[in-house]
Amino acid sequence: NAMLAWQRTAFHFQPPKNWMNDPNGPLYHKGWYHLFYQWNPHSAVWGNITWGHAVSRDLVHWLHLPLAMVPDHWYDANGVWSGSATRLPDGRIVMLYTGSTADSVQVQNLAEPADPSDPLLREWVKSDANPVLVPPPGIGLKDFRDPTTAWRVPNDTAWRVAIGSKDRSHAGLALVYRTEDFVRYDPDPALMHVVPGTGMWECVDFYPVATGSGGAGENSGLETSAPPGPGVKHVVKASLDDDKHDYYAIGTYDAAADTWTPDDTVNDVGIGLRYDYGKFYASKTFYDPVLRRRVLWGWVGETDSERADILKGWASLQSIPRTVLLDTKTGSNLLQWPVVEVENLRMSGKSFGGVALGHGSVVPLDVGKATQLDIEAEFEVDAAAVEAVTEAEVGFNCSTSAGAAGRGMLGPFGLLVLADEDRSEQTAVYFYLVKGTDGSLKTFFCQDELRGSKANDLVKRVYGSVVPVLNGENLSVRILVDHSIVESFAQGGRTCITSRVYPTRAIYDSARVFLFNNATNVHVTAKSVKIWQLNSAYIRPYSASSL
Ligand code: FRU
Repeated sequence: NAMLAWQRTAFHFQPPKNWMNDPNGPLYHKGWYHLFYQWNPHSAVWGNITWGHAVSRDLVHWLHLPLAMVPDHWYDANGVWSGSATRLPDGRIVMLYTGSTADSVQVQNLAEPADPSDPLLREWVKSDANPVLVPPPGIGLKDFRDPTTAWRVPNDTAWRVAIGSKDRSHAGLALVYRTEDFVRYDPDPALMHVVPGTGMWECVDFYPVATGSGGAGENSGLETSAPPGPGVKHVVKASLDDDKHDYYAIGTYDAAADTWTPDDTVNDVGIGLRYDYGKFYASKTFYDPVLRRRVLWGWVGETDSERADILKGWASLQSIPRTVLLDTKTGSNLLQWPVVEVENLRMSGKSFGGVALGHGSVVPLDVGKATQLDIEAEFEVDAAAVEAVTEAEVGFNCSTSAGAAGRGMLGPFGLLVLADEDRSEQTAVYFYLVKGTDGSLKTFFCQDELRGSKANDLVKRVYGSVVPVLNGENLSVRILVDHSIVESFAQGGRTCITSRVYPTRAIYDSARVFLFNNATNVHVTAKSVKIWQLNSAYIRPYSASSL
């Protein structure tokens, strides 16, 4: 439908048409990054799930390949559901995925490339041994899915794989199995993380991150089987089916005892940190051996109506792939940042320095066309003004607030993107400070979609949470704008928010960017704002001549 053509993105991964959900089995092989994904070949709503497949040299430009796997056996007749790739030391690639059987039972299956010497891994062969795992006693037949990438620990030849589930008391959990050959599995009762009240865990992920002390490099990612020990923490992530958000916890993996313990059992109740406060789900990481980094993909669904999706003929994007590191400064959260290759899309850039933002000000930034942007902004708040306030909105919460239109003493201030000239449409990305009577300051990072679109068949929300700000740091944000998505990263990626917005006026040449400060008691200076136009990525069907 040409009417909604402007909503299609230009540098986010999308299939040519129809419904997509989870990223599956990302891996690097012979010069190519591979991305598989849950795809409905027949319509723009979920169903008939197959594995779509695309390859890229740089995680930005993609070639669509033929389907990797379709529901053609009893053990996946109702769908080839999510799964993960594991590269064995001998170069073999094994793919474990969930099949929904002809009777809708969730089982785990094994597949391998028909020809591992094909860099494009075009053909996949399902194992004769399938299904290789069925729901164990005590686990519901429809509560057993999404195997992780497998890992090994020192002095043990067995691989471990985790699978998401829940128990009869509605506790979410990860079941762990050991296997030598990916065909026969033994349950591993010791290594299981359980969090009461969290319900079904989908798309569990488990991986090491470097603390920056004790060997493993601070700025590099770790291979999934990197040995636990000093200088290494392990992240457990689960996608909570109950609320459709991705949660993680940082902890310590004791390989000898096969146990994982979260660092902070108070604040994150075992799995309470969020990858992203907006629309971002069913994510998965993989290790990139070329740039030695861990890369995160997340499914970004639509927040318009199913009717609109059918009209458009497509639904969902993948997030910009994000590099994931432990935040060695705080030690208590991850840092997510768009992969460096995104910067190759930068075209003309403009810099704005020292823009003073008085109370209630809105300042347009002349950047030309503003539908595909990469923005880096840094703000400095007037310390004396903050000092003069004795207490400011300690009960603040992004989601229940009035959004960017609300006026607090020390916030909101930030940027308006995908805005039209008179700001009848705008998506606000901003900071909001609160101050306790004891002088303590807290910084919130929020994204407000309430005025994102004139259309009314949409979910519009204010998203966000606290972002850690250390002594001496200015407030900084990176924002990627791509037609119908705004992906934001505060303080180097400590807190991230993804919004889907569907402007009807702030489109094509009518989209603008503004700085704003709606605080009543504090002046803010936009110390530096850099804005680049981003080129469109090539995302198109593969043909032999496209190589
Ligand atoms: C998560 C999920 C997975 C499942 C797949 C089915 O979005 O529900 O648990 O494997 O999608 O498409």
